[in-house]
Amino acid sequence: MNNERTTTAEQAASGIFNGENGLDPFAVFAQMREAGPILSVPVEMGGVKFRAWMVTRFDEALEVLKNHRRFTVDRSSLDDQGAGESFIQQDESSPATFFTGKSMLTVDEPDHRRLRGLVSKAFTPKYMESLRPRVQELADQLLDRVQADGEMDLVRDYAYPLPINVICDMLGIPEQDHADIRLWSGAIAHGLGLGRHEPEVAEHMRAFGEYTARLVHAKRVSPGDDLISQLIAIEEEGDRLSEQELYSMITLLVFAGHETTSNLIATGSLMLLDHPEQSAKLQRDLSLVPAAVEELLRFNGPSTIAGPRFALEDTEIAGQAIRRGDMIFPVLKSANRDELKFDDPETLDLARNVTRHLAFGNGIHMCLGTPLARIEADIAFSTLLRRLPELKLAIPREDVTWSFALSSQGLSALPVKF
Ligand code: HEM
Repeated sequence: MNNERTTTAEQAASGIFNGENGLDPFAVFAQMREAGPILSVPVEMGGVKFRAWMVTRFDEALEVLKNHRRFTVDRSSLDDQGAGESFIQQDESSPATFFTGKSMLTVDEPDHRRLRGLVSKAFTPKYMESLRPRVQELADQLLDRVQADGEMDLVRDYAYPLPINVICDMLGIPEQDHADIRLWSGAIAHGLGLGRHEPEVAEHMRAFGEYTARLVHAKRVSPGDDLISQLIAIEEEGDRLSEQELYSMITLLVFAGHETTSNLIATGSLMLLDHPEQSAKLQRDLSLVPAAVEELLRFNGPSTIAGPRFALEDTEIAGQAIRRGDMIFPVLKSANRDELKFDDPETLDLARNVTRHLAFGNGIHMCLGTPLARIEADIAFSTLLRRLPELKLAIPREDVTWSFALSSQGLSALPVKF
Protein backbone atom coordinates (compact mmCIF):
# COMPACT_ATOMS: atom_id res chain seq x y z
CA MET A 1 0.00 0.00 0.00
CA ASN A 2 1.33 3.44 -0.93
CA ASN A 3 1.63 5.44 2.32
CA GLU A 4 1.19 8.88 0.79
CA ARG A 5 -1.94 7.79 -1.05
CA THR A 6 -3.26 6.20 2.12
CA THR A 7 -2.82 9.38 4.17
CA THR A 8 -4.56 11.55 1.55
CA ALA A 9 -7.41 9.07 1.29
CA GLU A 10 -7.74 8.90 5.07
CA GLN A 11 -7.93 12.68 5.30
CA ALA A 12 -10.60 12.84 2.60
CA ALA A 13 -12.51 9.95 4.12
CA SER A 14 -12.62 11.42 7.59
CA GLY A 15 -15.63 13.70 7.40
CA ILE A 16 -17.10 12.28 4.21
CA PHE A 17 -19.51 10.15 6.17
CA ASN A 18 -21.29 13.08 7.78
CA GLY A 19 -21.56 14.81 4.41
CA GLU A 20 -20.40 18.11 5.77
CA ASN A 21 -17.19 18.62 3.86
CA GLY A 22 -18.93 19.21 0.53
CA LEU A 23 -16.82 16.63 -1.29
CA ASP A 24 -18.26 14.26 -3.90
CA PRO A 25 -18.41 11.02 -1.91
CA PHE A 26 -17.79 8.85 -4.97
CA ALA A 27 -14.53 10.64 -5.79
CA VAL A 28 -13.43 10.04 -2.19
CA PHE A 29 -14.48 6.37 -2.34
CA ALA A 30 -12.43 5.95 -5.54
CA GLN A 31 -9.43 7.46 -3.74
CA MET A 32 -10.00 5.13 -0.79
CA ARG A 33 -10.21 2.03 -3.02
CA GLU A 34 -7.04 3.13 -4.72
CA ALA A 35 -5.31 3.29 -1.32
CA GLY A 36 -6.48 -0.20 -0.41
CA PRO A 37 -9.41 -2.52 0.35
CA ILE A 38 -9.33 -1.52 4.02
CA LEU A 39 -8.34 1.78 5.63
CA SER A 40 -8.22 3.02 9.19
CA VAL A 41 -10.12 6.32 9.38
CA PRO A 42 -10.61 8.73 12.30
CA VAL A 43 -14.34 9.04 12.99
CA GLU A 44 -16.60 10.50 15.64
CA MET A 45 -19.84 9.05 16.94
CA GLY A 46 -22.00 10.39 19.74
CA GLY A 47 -19.24 12.87 20.59
CA VAL A 48 -16.65 10.08 20.98
CA LYS A 49 -13.58 10.19 18.71
CA PHE A 50 -11.94 6.94 17.65
CA ARG A 51 -10.55 5.09 14.63
CA ALA A 52 -12.55 2.60 12.62
CA TRP A 53 -11.76 0.41 9.63
CA MET A 54 -13.52 1.24 6.35
CA VAL A 55 -13.78 -1.66 3.92
CA THR A 56 -13.86 -0.24 0.42
CA ARG A 57 -13.90 -3.19 -2.00
CA PHE A 58 -16.64 -5.69 -2.84
CA ASP A 59 -15.09 -9.05 -1.90
CA GLU A 60 -13.76 -7.82 1.43
CA ALA A 61 -17.03 -6.02 2.31
CA LEU A 62 -18.97 -9.19 1.44
CA GLU A 63 -16.68 -11.25 3.68
CA VAL A 64 -17.24 -8.89 6.64
CA LEU A 65 -21.02 -8.96 6.11
CA LYS A 66 -21.22 -12.73 5.65
CA ASN A 67 -18.70 -14.21 8.02
CA HIS A 68 -20.49 -14.25 11.36
CA ARG A 69 -17.81 -16.38 12.97
CA ARG A 70 -15.26 -13.58 12.53
CA PHE A 71 -17.41 -10.46 12.68
CA THR A 72 -20.42 -9.59 14.82
CA VAL A 73 -22.93 -6.73 14.94
CA ASP A 74 -23.24 -7.26 18.70
CA ARG A 75 -20.49 -5.48 20.60
CA SER A 76 -21.84 -6.77 23.91
CA SER A 77 -20.89 -10.30 22.84
CA LEU A 78 -17.28 -9.15 23.28
CA ASP A 79 -17.71 -8.83 27.00
CA ASP A 80 -14.30 -7.34 27.64
CA GLN A 81 -14.84 -4.58 25.06
CA GLY A 82 -16.92 -1.94 26.80
CA ALA A 83 -20.08 -3.98 26.61
CA GLY A 84 -23.17 -1.91 27.11
CA GLU A 85 -21.33 1.33 26.31
CA SER A 86 -23.49 3.07 23.76
CA PHE A 87 -22.91 5.99 21.43
CA ILE A 88 -26.55 6.85 21.81
CA GLN A 89 -27.68 8.60 24.95
CA GLN A 90 -31.25 8.01 26.03
CA ASP A 91 -32.54 8.21 29.56
CA GLU A 92 -33.46 4.86 30.98
CA SER A 93 -37.07 5.69 31.76
CA SER A 94 -37.88 5.95 28.01
CA PRO A 95 -39.41 2.94 26.28
CA ALA A 96 -36.88 1.07 24.11
CA THR A 97 -36.43 1.91 20.46
CA PHE A 98 -34.24 -0.06 18.10
CA PHE A 99 -31.56 2.58 18.61
CA THR A 100 -31.21 1.69 22.25
CA GLY A 101 -32.90 -1.69 22.69
CA LYS A 102 -32.21 -5.14 21.30
CA SER A 103 -33.44 -5.60 17.72
CA MET A 104 -32.66 -8.07 14.95
CA LEU A 105 -30.24 -5.51 13.51
CA THR A 106 -28.00 -5.55 16.58
CA VAL A 107 -27.96 -9.21 17.65
CA ASP A 108 -26.55 -12.36 16.11
CA GLU A 109 -27.65 -15.99 16.40
CA PRO A 110 -29.66 -17.40 18.07
CA ASP A 111 -31.60 -14.21 19.00
CA HIS A 112 -31.39 -12.90 15.47
CA ARG A 113 -33.09 -15.98 14.00
CA ARG A 114 -35.84 -15.81 16.61
CA LEU A 115 -36.55 -12.08 16.11
CA ARG A 116 -36.31 -12.08 12.32
CA GLY A 117 -38.34 -15.30 12.13
CA LEU A 118 -41.27 -13.58 13.84
CA VAL A 119 -41.74 -11.13 10.97
CA SER A 120 -40.10 -12.77 8.00
CA LYS A 121 -43.34 -14.36 6.79
CA ALA A 122 -44.77 -10.89 6.29
CA PHE A 123 -41.86 -10.00 3.99
CA THR A 124 -41.77 -12.90 1.52
CA PRO A 125 -41.72 -11.99 -2.18
CA LYS A 126 -45.07 -13.77 -2.57
CA TYR A 127 -46.79 -11.74 0.14
CA MET A 128 -45.19 -8.56 -1.17
CA GLU A 129 -46.59 -9.25 -4.65
CA SER A 130 -50.05 -9.28 -3.07
CA LEU A 131 -49.46 -5.67 -1.94
CA ARG A 132 -48.84 -4.44 -5.50
CA PRO A 133 -52.40 -3.16 -6.15
CA ARG A 134 -52.35 -1.15 -2.90
CA VAL A 135 -48.89 0.33 -3.64
CA GLN A 136 -50.09 1.23 -7.15
CA GLU A 137 -53.20 2.86 -5.74
CA LEU A 138 -51.09 4.96 -3.35
CA ALA A 139 -48.69 6.05 -6.12
CA ASP A 140 -51.63 7.06 -8.33
CA GLN A 141 -53.33 8.98 -5.52
CA LEU A 142 -50.16 10.98 -4.88
CA LEU A 143 -49.78 11.94 -8.53
CA ASP A 144 -53.53 12.72 -8.81
CA ARG A 145 -53.00 15.39 -6.15
CA VAL A 146 -50.31 17.24 -8.11
CA GLN A 147 -50.96 16.40 -11.78
CA ALA A 148 -53.03 19.52 -12.50
CA ASP A 149 -50.41 21.83 -10.89
CA GLY A 150 -47.75 20.89 -13.42
CA GLU A 151 -45.09 20.92 -10.68
CA MET A 152 -44.19 19.30 -7.37
CA ASP A 153 -41.40 18.69 -4.94
CA LEU A 154 -40.80 15.07 -5.82
CA VAL A 155 -39.37 14.33 -2.37
CA ARG A 156 -42.21 15.88 -0.35
CA ASP A 157 -45.09 14.92 -2.64
CA TYR A 158 -44.09 11.47 -3.89
CA ALA A 159 -40.86 9.81 -2.76
CA TYR A 160 -41.46 10.42 0.94
CA PRO A 161 -45.21 9.71 1.38
CA LEU A 162 -45.31 6.52 -0.72
CA PRO A 163 -43.09 4.24 1.44
CA ILE A 164 -44.30 5.66 4.76
CA ASN A 165 -47.90 4.97 3.73
CA VAL A 166 -47.03 1.41 2.69
CA ILE A 167 -45.18 0.47 5.89
CA CYS A 168 -47.72 2.24 8.13
CA ASP A 169 -50.54 0.37 6.32
CA MET A 170 -48.75 -2.92 7.01
CA LEU A 171 -48.22 -2.04 10.66
CA GLY A 172 -51.64 -0.49 11.20
CA ILE A 173 -50.41 3.03 12.05
CA PRO A 174 -53.11 5.67 11.51
CA GLU A 175 -52.51 8.26 8.80
CA GLN A 176 -52.87 11.22 11.19
CA ASP A 177 -49.70 10.04 12.98
CA HIS A 178 -47.47 9.97 9.87
CA ALA A 179 -46.38 13.61 10.30
CA ASP A 180 -45.07 12.91 13.82
CA ILE A 181 -43.26 9.80 12.62
CA ARG A 182 -41.68 11.81 9.85
CA LEU A 183 -40.54 14.44 12.35
CA TRP A 184 -39.04 11.94 14.79
CA SER A 185 -37.37 9.63 12.34
CA GLY A 186 -36.03 12.49 10.23
CA ALA A 187 -34.56 14.20 13.30
CA ILE A 188 -33.09 10.95 14.60
CA ALA A 189 -31.58 9.99 11.24
CA HIS A 190 -30.07 13.43 10.74
CA GLY A 191 -28.84 13.85 14.28
CA LEU A 192 -27.10 10.50 14.66
CA GLY A 193 -24.38 8.54 12.96
CA LEU A 194 -20.77 9.17 12.11
CA GLY A 195 -19.79 12.74 12.84
CA ARG A 196 -23.17 13.67 14.31
CA HIS A 197 -24.16 14.30 17.87
CA GLU A 198 -27.24 16.46 18.21
CA PRO A 199 -28.62 16.73 21.75
CA GLU A 200 -32.28 16.93 20.60
CA VAL A 201 -32.03 13.34 19.33
CA ALA A 202 -32.70 11.92 22.80
CA GLU A 203 -35.97 13.90 22.99
CA HIS A 204 -37.14 12.63 19.59
CA MET A 205 -36.23 9.09 20.55
CA ARG A 206 -38.21 9.41 23.73
CA ALA A 207 -41.23 10.76 21.80
CA PHE A 208 -40.99 7.92 19.24
CA GLY A 209 -40.69 5.32 22.03
CA GLU A 210 -43.61 6.77 24.00
CA TYR A 211 -45.78 6.93 20.90
CA THR A 212 -44.99 3.26 20.19
CA ALA A 213 -45.92 2.29 23.75
CA ARG A 214 -49.28 4.12 23.42
CA LEU A 215 -49.94 2.47 20.05
CA VAL A 216 -49.20 -0.98 21.48
CA HIS A 217 -51.54 -0.26 24.37
CA ALA A 218 -54.34 0.81 21.99
CA LYS A 219 -53.89 -2.31 19.87
CA ARG A 220 -53.87 -4.58 22.91
CA VAL A 221 -57.30 -3.17 23.76
CA SER A 222 -58.61 -3.41 20.21
CA PRO A 223 -56.43 -5.51 17.89
CA GLY A 224 -56.64 -5.05 14.13
CA ASP A 225 -55.64 -7.02 11.06
CA ASP A 226 -52.09 -5.65 11.03
CA LEU A 227 -48.52 -6.66 11.78
CA ILE A 228 -48.32 -4.88 15.16
CA SER A 229 -51.43 -6.71 16.39
CA GLN A 230 -49.89 -10.01 15.22
CA LEU A 231 -46.65 -9.23 17.08
CA ILE A 232 -48.59 -8.33 20.24
CA ALA A 233 -50.37 -11.70 20.05
CA ILE A 234 -46.94 -13.42 19.82
CA GLU A 235 -45.61 -11.39 22.77
CA GLU A 236 -48.66 -12.30 24.86
CA GLU A 237 -48.29 -15.99 23.99
CA GLY A 238 -45.14 -16.39 26.05
CA ASP A 239 -41.39 -16.35 25.69
CA ARG A 240 -40.79 -15.63 22.01
CA LEU A 241 -40.82 -11.81 22.15
CA SER A 242 -40.32 -9.58 25.19
CA GLU A 243 -42.10 -6.24 25.56
CA GLN A 244 -38.86 -4.27 25.02
CA GLU A 245 -38.10 -6.32 21.91
CA LEU A 246 -41.62 -5.61 20.65
CA TYR A 247 -41.01 -1.83 20.89
CA SER A 248 -37.60 -2.15 19.25
CA MET A 249 -39.07 -4.24 16.44
CA ILE A 250 -41.86 -1.76 15.71
CA THR A 251 -39.55 1.28 15.69
CA LEU A 252 -37.05 -0.60 13.48
CA LEU A 253 -39.72 -1.56 10.95
CA VAL A 254 -41.14 1.97 10.83
CA PHE A 255 -37.73 3.59 10.50
CA ALA A 256 -36.10 1.10 8.12
CA GLY A 257 -39.29 0.79 6.09
CA HIS A 258 -39.42 4.33 4.79
CA GLU A 259 -36.24 6.46 5.01
CA THR A 260 -34.17 4.33 2.68
CA THR A 261 -36.92 3.56 0.18
CA SER A 262 -37.86 7.22 -0.17
CA ASN A 263 -34.18 8.00 -0.77
CA LEU A 264 -34.07 5.38 -3.53
CA ILE A 265 -37.15 6.86 -5.22
CA ALA A 266 -35.87 10.44 -4.96
CA THR A 267 -32.23 9.79 -5.90
CA GLY A 268 -33.29 7.33 -8.59
CA SER A 269 -35.62 9.93 -10.12
CA LEU A 270 -32.77 12.44 -10.22
CA MET A 271 -30.53 9.87 -11.92
CA LEU A 272 -33.26 9.22 -14.50
CA LEU A 273 -33.48 12.98 -15.14
CA ASP A 274 -29.68 13.09 -15.47
CA HIS A 275 -29.81 10.36 -18.14
CA PRO A 276 -32.72 11.26 -20.46
CA GLU A 277 -31.80 8.83 -23.24
CA GLN A 278 -31.71 5.87 -20.91
CA SER A 279 -34.98 7.01 -19.28
CA ALA A 280 -36.66 7.25 -22.68
CA LYS A 281 -35.82 3.58 -23.27
CA LEU A 282 -37.45 2.65 -19.99
CA GLN A 283 -40.46 4.78 -20.83
CA ARG A 284 -40.93 2.84 -24.07
CA ASP A 285 -40.71 -0.50 -22.25
CA LEU A 286 -41.66 -0.41 -18.59
CA SER A 287 -40.84 -4.12 -18.20
CA LEU A 288 -37.18 -2.96 -18.06
CA VAL A 289 -37.77 -1.02 -14.84
CA PRO A 290 -37.06 -3.82 -12.28
CA ALA A 291 -33.60 -4.46 -13.80
CA ALA A 292 -32.97 -0.71 -13.95
CA VAL A 293 -33.82 -0.47 -10.22
CA GLU A 294 -30.94 -2.88 -9.48
CA GLU A 295 -28.54 -0.65 -11.39
CA LEU A 296 -29.87 2.44 -9.58
CA LEU A 297 -29.23 0.60 -6.29
CA ARG A 298 -25.72 -0.35 -7.38
CA PHE A 299 -24.83 3.04 -8.78
CA ASN A 300 -26.12 5.18 -5.93
CA GLY A 301 -28.15 3.15 -3.45
CA PRO A 302 -29.38 4.86 -0.29
CA SER A 303 -27.10 3.22 2.30
CA THR A 304 -23.56 4.57 2.40
CA ILE A 305 -22.37 2.07 4.98
CA ALA A 306 -23.70 -1.02 6.73
CA GLY A 307 -23.91 -0.88 10.52
CA PRO A 308 -20.66 -1.38 12.40
CA ARG A 309 -19.21 -4.89 12.73
CA PHE A 310 -16.73 -5.92 15.44
CA ALA A 311 -13.94 -8.44 15.00
CA LEU A 312 -14.57 -11.48 17.22
CA GLU A 313 -10.91 -12.51 17.11
CA ASP A 314 -7.52 -11.18 16.07
CA THR A 315 -7.72 -11.62 12.32
CA GLU A 316 -6.81 -10.02 9.00
CA ILE A 317 -8.62 -8.52 6.05
CA ALA A 318 -6.71 -8.37 2.75
CA GLY A 319 -3.44 -8.79 4.67
CA GLN A 320 -4.24 -6.01 7.16
CA ALA A 321 -4.07 -7.15 10.79
CA ILE A 322 -7.30 -6.47 12.68
CA ARG A 323 -7.52 -6.76 16.45
CA ARG A 324 -10.33 -8.41 18.37
CA GLY A 325 -12.98 -5.79 19.13
CA ASP A 326 -11.96 -3.41 16.28
CA MET A 327 -14.87 -1.59 14.64
CA ILE A 328 -15.31 -2.17 10.91
CA PHE A 329 -17.66 -0.47 8.45
CA PRO A 330 -18.39 -2.07 5.07
CA VAL A 331 -18.72 0.95 2.72
CA LEU A 332 -21.53 -0.29 0.52
CA LYS A 333 -21.50 2.58 -1.97
CA SER A 334 -17.79 2.08 -2.56
CA ALA A 335 -18.04 -1.72 -2.88
CA ASN A 336 -20.77 -1.23 -5.48
CA ARG A 337 -18.36 0.79 -7.61
CA ASP A 338 -15.44 -1.60 -7.25
CA GLU A 339 -13.64 -1.72 -10.58
CA LEU A 340 -12.47 -5.26 -9.79
CA LYS A 341 -16.12 -6.35 -9.76
CA PHE A 342 -17.95 -4.18 -12.31
CA ASP A 343 -17.02 -3.01 -15.80
CA ASP A 344 -16.96 0.77 -16.03
CA PRO A 345 -18.48 1.09 -12.54
CA GLU A 346 -18.68 4.90 -12.49
CA THR A 347 -21.13 4.85 -15.41
CA LEU A 348 -24.86 4.40 -14.88
CA ASP A 349 -26.03 1.80 -17.37
CA LEU A 350 -29.67 0.94 -16.81
CA ALA A 351 -29.37 -1.96 -19.25
CA ARG A 352 -26.50 -3.48 -17.27
CA ASN A 353 -27.33 -6.93 -16.02
CA VAL A 354 -26.53 -6.46 -12.32
CA THR A 355 -26.44 -9.90 -10.80
CA ARG A 356 -25.09 -8.86 -7.43
CA HIS A 357 -24.68 -5.67 -5.42
CA LEU A 358 -24.43 -4.79 -1.75
CA ALA A 359 -27.05 -2.02 -1.53
CA PHE A 360 -29.18 -4.22 0.75
CA GLY A 361 -26.17 -5.59 2.65
CA ASN A 362 -25.59 -9.36 2.76
CA GLY A 363 -25.46 -12.29 5.16
CA ILE A 364 -28.00 -12.84 7.91
CA HIS A 365 -28.66 -9.11 8.31
CA MET A 366 -29.36 -8.55 4.62
CA CYS A 367 -32.30 -6.18 4.37
CA LEU A 368 -35.55 -7.82 5.41
CA GLY A 369 -37.50 -5.31 3.33
CA THR A 370 -35.69 -6.11 0.03
CA PRO A 371 -38.77 -7.55 -1.77
CA LEU A 372 -40.92 -4.67 -0.53
CA ALA A 373 -38.39 -2.01 -1.53
CA ARG A 374 -38.08 -3.57 -5.02
CA ILE A 375 -41.83 -3.51 -5.58
CA GLU A 376 -42.21 0.03 -4.28
CA ALA A 377 -39.36 1.25 -6.50
CA ASP A 378 -40.70 -0.59 -9.57
CA ILE A 379 -44.16 0.94 -9.11
CA ALA A 380 -42.85 4.40 -8.18
CA PHE A 381 -40.61 4.72 -11.26
CA SER A 382 -43.04 3.03 -13.69
CA THR A 383 -45.91 5.26 -12.58
CA LEU A 384 -43.75 8.38 -12.83
CA LEU A 385 -42.50 7.48 -16.33
CA ARG A 386 -46.00 6.54 -17.56
CA ARG A 387 -47.95 9.43 -16.09
CA LEU A 388 -45.44 12.28 -16.29
CA PRO A 389 -43.53 11.71 -19.52
CA GLU A 390 -42.43 15.37 -19.70
CA LEU A 391 -40.84 15.37 -16.22
CA LYS A 392 -38.01 17.93 -15.89
CA LEU A 393 -36.00 19.55 -13.11
CA ALA A 394 -37.51 22.89 -12.06
CA ILE A 395 -34.23 24.25 -10.65
CA PRO A 396 -30.67 24.36 -12.02
CA ARG A 397 -28.96 20.97 -11.55
CA GLU A 398 -26.25 22.52 -9.35
CA ASP A 399 -28.90 23.74 -6.88
CA VAL A 400 -30.02 20.19 -6.03
CA THR A 401 -29.00 19.61 -2.41
CA TRP A 402 -28.16 16.34 -0.73
CA SER A 403 -29.02 15.45 2.79
CA PHE A 404 -26.88 13.07 4.81
CA ALA A 405 -28.44 10.92 7.51
CA LEU A 406 -27.55 8.09 9.87
CA SER A 407 -25.95 5.85 7.28
CA SER A 408 -27.64 7.00 4.13
CA GLN A 409 -27.78 9.84 1.69
CA GLY A 410 -30.85 11.35 0.05
CA LEU A 411 -32.18 14.59 -1.40
CA SER A 412 -33.63 17.35 0.77
CA ALA A 413 -35.96 18.41 -2.06
CA LEU A 414 -36.36 17.78 -5.79
CA PRO A 415 -38.49 20.47 -7.45
CA VAL A 416 -39.74 19.20 -10.83
CA LYS A 417 -42.21 20.33 -13.50
CA PHE A 418 -44.16 18.29 -16.03
C1 HEM B 1 -34.19 0.79 -0.96
C2 HEM B 1 -34.59 0.54 0.25
C3 HEM B 1 -33.77 -0.10 1.31
C4 HEM B 1 -32.40 -0.19 1.44
C5 HEM B 1 -31.33 0.36 0.50
C6 HEM B 1 -32.15 -0.92 2.66
C7 HEM B 1 -30.88 -1.23 3.12
C8 HEM B 1 -30.62 -2.07 4.19
C9 HEM B 1 -29.31 -2.52 4.57
C10 HEM B 1 -28.00 -2.14 3.88
C11 HEM B 1 -29.47 -3.33 5.64
C12 HEM B 1 -28.36 -4.10 6.36
C13 HEM B 1 -27.73 -3.29 7.44
C14 HEM B 1 -26.54 -3.99 8.05
O1 HEM B 1 -26.19 -5.13 7.69
O2 HEM B 1 -25.92 -3.36 8.90
C15 HEM B 1 -30.87 -3.38 5.96
C16 HEM B 1 -31.42 -4.09 6.99
C17 HEM B 1 -32.76 -4.08 7.30
N1 HEM B 1 -33.78 -3.48 6.57
FE1 HEM B 1 -33.58 -2.43 4.88
N2 HEM B 1 -33.33 -1.24 3.25
C18 HEM B 1 -34.35 -0.78 2.46
C19 HEM B 1 -35.71 -0.91 2.67
C20 HEM B 1 -36.27 -1.56 3.73
C21 HEM B 1 -37.69 -1.73 3.93
C22 HEM B 1 -38.80 -1.28 2.98
C23 HEM B 1 -37.84 -2.39 5.10
C24 HEM B 1 -39.16 -2.80 5.67
C25 HEM B 1 -39.49 -2.86 6.89
C26 HEM B 1 -36.51 -2.65 5.64
C27 HEM B 1 -36.21 -3.30 6.83
C28 HEM B 1 -34.96 -3.71 7.22
C29 HEM B 1 -34.71 -4.49 8.43
C30 HEM B 1 -35.75 -4.95 9.44
C31 HEM B 1 -33.33 -4.71 8.47
C32 HEM B 1 -32.54 -5.50 9.54
C33 HEM B 1 -32.40 -6.94 9.06
C34 HEM B 1 -31.58 -7.81 9.98
O3 HEM B 1 -30.77 -7.30 10.77
O4 HEM B 1 -31.76 -9.04 9.91
N3 HEM B 1 -35.58 -2.12 4.78
N4 HEM B 1 -31.57 -2.61 5.04
